[in-house]
Amino acid sequence: MLKHWDLFLAPYKQAVEELKVKLKGMRSQYELKSTHSPIEFVTGRVKPIPSVLDKAARKGIPLDRLEEMQDIAGLRMMCQFVDDIPSVVEILKERNDFEVVEERNYITEKKESGYRSYHVVLRYPVQTIEGEKKILVEIQIRTLAMNFWATIEHSLNYKYSGNFPKEIKERLQRASEAAFQLDEEMSKIREEIQEAQVMFSRKKEK
Ligand code: GTP
Ligand code: MG
Repeated sequence: MLKHWDLFLAPYKQAVEELKVKLKGMRSQYELKSTHSPIEFVTGRVKPIPSVLDKAARKGIPLDRLEEMQDIAGLRMMCQFVDDIPSVVEILKERNDFEVVEERNYITEKKESGYRSYHVVLRYPVQTIEGEKKILVEIQIRTLAMNFWATIEHSLNYKYSGNFPKEIKERLQRASEAAFQLDEEMSKIREEIQEAQVMFSRKKEK
């Protein structure tokens, strides 16, 4: 049984490792150019077996169709600014080493919980000794503030098994609003900094 899981999860593990290298590589390229990187950091994980089984049961996915699950391989790309998110999505769509097959914008359409992020689902080809195997990979693209909120909410979810007391639910919604305000303020500060930089370089040219 364990052997079977190892075999099933192997391409997902490989995809996560490869994509971590590739997506982190994008950040290094921006650093080399000394331009603002829309990517701050990248993380990745393979969904633990118990979570795969839980989700399959919850969503009514038969065990022989687990490859339909979109987030067995999952990566996160964290950005400094909200405006970096569409840039990252565009860069992903331009690449030739995978295909973006689905997008979910929980930034314009935030979830009732207060969750905000941009999700893309990839079809990613893994090269195996039996040939190419295409698997689904979910990438969550979010700001540092969105990530902070989602991480805290996720651990509380774990603690309360999704049944938050009303007070905590409301507090989380207010915290989500505060994270949104933080993103807004940072975007405005960024615009001011960039305007100041443009003014400064014009002065130097004279
Ligand atoms: P899943 O069955 O969980 O995949 O839901 P879905 O397919 O309807 O939604 P989607 O795939 O867009 O989002 C699922 C993933 O987004 C989850 O595995 C979480 O990582 C993240 N997510 C979605 N909603 C929340 C939320 O309210 N709080 C947190 N912390 N994360 C969330
Ligand atoms: Mg999903």
